[in-house]
Amino acid sequence: MREQWNTKLGFILAAIGSAVGLGNLWRFPYIAASNGGGAFILPYLFAILTAGIPILILEYTLGKTYKSGAPGTFARINKKFEVLGWFQVAISFLITVYYFAIVVWVICYLGYSVTLAWGDDSTTFFVANFLEATSSADGTGGLNTKLIIPFLIVWAITAFIMYRGINKGIDLACKICLPILLLCVIIIVIRGLTLPGAVDGLAYMFTPDWSKIASADVWVAAYGQVFFSLSIAFAIMISYSSYLPEKEDVVNTAFLTACTNHGFEIFAGIGIFAIIGYMASVQGVAVEEVAAGGIGLAFMVFPTAISTLPALNALFGVLFFLSLFTAGVTSLISIIQAVISGVQDKWELSRNKATTAVLVPAFIVSFAFITRSGLDYLDFADYIANNFGIVLAGVIEVVLIGWFFKPEKIRQVANLNSNFSIGVWWTWCLKVVTVVVLGYTFISNMIVYVKEGYGGYPSWIGIVCIAFLVISAIVFTAIKGKPGFYERPEGAPGYDD
Ligand code: ALA
Repeated sequence: MREQWNTKLGFILAAIGSAVGLGNLWRFPYIAASNGGGAFILPYLFAILTAGIPILILEYTLGKTYKSGAPGTFARINKKFEVLGWFQVAISFLITVYYFAIVVWVICYLGYSVTLAWGDDSTTFFVANFLEATSSADGTGGLNTKLIIPFLIVWAITAFIMYRGINKGIDLACKICLPILLLCVIIIVIRGLTLPGAVDGLAYMFTPDWSKIASADVWVAAYGQVFFSLSIAFAIMISYSSYLPEKEDVVNTAFLTACTNHGFEIFAGIGIFAIIGYMASVQGVAVEEVAAGGIGLAFMVFPTAISTLPALNALFGVLFFLSLFTAGVTSLISIIQAVISGVQDKWELSRNKATTAVLVPAFIVSFAFITRSGLDYLDFADYIANNFGIVLAGVIEVVLIGWFFKPEKIRQVANLNSNFSIGVWWTWCLKVVTVVVLGYTFISNMIVYVKEGYGGYPSWIGIVCIAFLVISAIVFTAIKGKPGFYERPEGAPGYDD
């Protein structure tokens, strides 16, 4: 008997826990600021309405109707579609292994906050003292031994949650972590807004730079952010919704998940930029000088901001890294669950066996990210997963369902138990708007990459990585599963009906 969420609340919290993650706390503020600030909000909202919510409704409906992880769901629609499910699972596996490393850093920084161990120069501390970073051009640089114990701790916590399963593990972890996260972020925002200079940070984040809105890059960045942040197109939401009971209302829940996730994203961004504004005013520099990109924001800029605060610095540091930790863990477990569901469903394994089959290889591979070159590897893996993996998986998903299956049938199924019905706008968003934008995004990312490469690596390395994801998907599709894996549940629309 397939596991089921005990309560609707359990599912909603798990879905929100998956969506609200490191992407919200460190990725969003920087992406928004560097893509036109207030002008970015428009493409961002457009991306949420035309792709985020429609795909979330699609994935919830597919998971609930076909009752299997992404590979099983696509296989039950049409055996030829199964490979897409495995491609999405392969992306989740890749994200799992580097996401782990970031949670390991967070746990270390949670400890460092107590004594403000980064001192006056948090960038040197992060790169040289903490990561002992060497360039990957010189090999792995060997294991960074001080990361081994935190690494094992994060693994132990994750394994504990995953072995306990959907309700006793994931549901419970989200019920514990999300209130802590919310509380921490509320305190951060209030503290941020009451600091002098906060308003400059907010002006930087929200002042529209209209010259950027016509730039395709801004639209590409908005769609990328929405996909990563909502955890769509990499198997997670299909997997989570496959444990829903028959009568659940997915349309409502998709709107709720998306509004909570993006509302929280903007709310947390306000707190973070208020603090950056304060820091800029204390140091007498421009806000844009303080705001650094991606990972740098959380581990290089923010520690300095924490040290600069007038009082209760350590407490504030603990709150900030605790919020990253809780957000990170609830997303990490969802990414692993996406992989576990795929494996468990195809070979009808017990929960424990499937969990071991996924965690052991992930454990081994993730060691790469705690070597001295781990930062380079992580940056590259994140780039490949976000710019090519998720985009390609997303565009294939909408093309297959929108053009080669029956989107109208899926829309009817989605509306069956729904408080309010979705209209044909949904179908056209998927079939046309999302296909065009994602198709364009993928091609333009590829052109830039082939021309310029990334991170100092020649571009063939990235192509090999993508090919590796595709080949893994083909291999997992080719290995025969148990007959039940391909059987469509009663009432689920089939390809030949
Ligand atoms: N949705 C998750 C995040 O934002 C993966 O980090």
